[in-house]
Amino acid sequence: MDINAHTNDPAGVIEADRAHVWHHLSQHKPYANGVDPRIIVEGKGLKVWDITGKEHIDAVSGGVWTVNVGYGRKRIADAVAEQLTKMCFFGGTAGTIPMSAFSEMLIDKMPGLDRVYYASSGSEANEKAFKMVRQISHNFYGGKKNKILFRDRDYHGTTITTLSAGGQEERSGQYGPYTPGFVSIPHCLEYRSQDGSTGEAYTAASLKAIEDVILREGADTIGSLCLEPITAGGGIILAPTGYWEGVQALCKKYEILLHIDEVVCGLGRTGTWFGYQQFGIKPDFVTMAKGVASGYAAISCCVTTNEVFDKFTDDSSHMNYFRDISTFGGCTGGPAAAIENMKILMEEDLLGNSTRMGEHLMGNLNGLMEDHACIGEVRGMGLFAGAELVLDRKTKEPMPEKMVAQIVGDCMAQGVIIGMTNRSLPGFNNTLLFAPPLIATKDDLNNVTEAVGRAIKKVVG
Ligand SMILES: Cc1ncc(COP(=O)(O)O)c(C=O)c1O
Repeated sequence: MDINAHTNDPAGVIEADRAHVWHHLSQHKPYANGVDPRIIVEGKGLKVWDITGKEHIDAVSGGVWTVNVGYGRKRIADAVAEQLTKMCFFGGTAGTIPMSAFSEMLIDKMPGLDRVYYASSGSEANEKAFKMVRQISHNFYGGKKNKILFRDRDYHGTTITTLSAGGQEERSGQYGPYTPGFVSIPHCLEYRSQDGSTGEAYTAASLKAIEDVILREGADTIGSLCLEPITAGGGIILAPTGYWEGVQALCKKYEILLHIDEVVCGLGRTGTWFGYQQFGIKPDFVTMAKGVASGYAAISCCVTTNEVFDKFTDDSSHMNYFRDISTFGGCTGGPAAAIENMKILMEEDLLGNSTRMGEHLMGNLNGLMEDHACIGEVRGMGLFAGAELVLDRKTKEPMPEKMVAQIVGDCMAQGVIIGMTNRSLPGFNNTLLFAPPLIATKDDLNNVTEAVGRAIKKVVG
């Protein structure tokens, strides 16, 4: 069946999907038992329509926080079409015009960073940084400084190695054995304080916990520390005040490279170009994907300093340069889309809108918290927010995942798509997630949070 025939035959599309498509992160049993898979056919602004014609407000930017500039941007599609017609692909050993142009635009937004390595997914960009750390270890530390620290609850991707650097057991479980050399540090969610401390004491405890790991492993064995600026799928976790200064100081003290994973927070999500810029962090590696081209084309980047880059320019051995390639890192559609995407973010002041509308969203969520005792805490920055649901505010007993899923399902039935920490953290898949396109208005956000209020009332009472 060709694609046009498919477009005119919704039942045929659904049946072909049911028979042959293996959906991401999905249990297929319900589809076999008569539930139709959801097929999304069109998007405009922050709305999407499914194949039955049902309209939805998308409060999670394509389900996985990607479509930062919203749907239906013809100018991005046109720029990609023009570029693909002229020069669609060439392996990354050569340069292309959009790669060159986008890297200059990007570096302009990232003072202190210099070099862009192109790939095609967030996982892959993180793998590039890990490989760079390992190669530095081999060439400068006799292979010793090769361990990579990651944080509990953070996520860095879906490959075996990025899962090895993942702090979400329900994502990595059953996929071992894992890549050796990845070591976890504790999460920094004060609401779930490991020792009951709060405020400055919690910051100090969180930093001590990192230093304890460094000392236990031996600083001379640790190459880098990989962190999300705001933990995304692990429950929208903002580090406590003073945490980042402390992290930076530890990295300096123990000569550990700092790798910030901006796959979710990058390109305006929190109200600055990158999440790390909210906290005055000076990273050695920044990885990004999703919002770089808002999903109009696949692109990811691993960005580094000249200090890191220079470690790969010694030509005294044929082995010293970065011997890595990403075939699809050479697709020109990615950077062509990324250029237009960045122009839109600037021309429409979507970073400013993210900040302003983020405050409105947080206000609405705080309002919901007043009405619903099952909201234990709301957290967020810019158009990126979470609401942690509990059975009891005092004991903080997490709401069971099934119940949280019912709330998300009820929102969906109302035509509002929100997210949740799903099948990530044993016992703690209890946070509702919000990351609408950065074009969201107050009305859009009111529609979202009103639907959430109705869903909570229905499910919890
Ligand atoms: C923080 C973070 N890093 C990395 C990734 C992996 O990106 P990708 O799915 O493009 O490989 C994700 C995906 O959700 C993510 O949330």
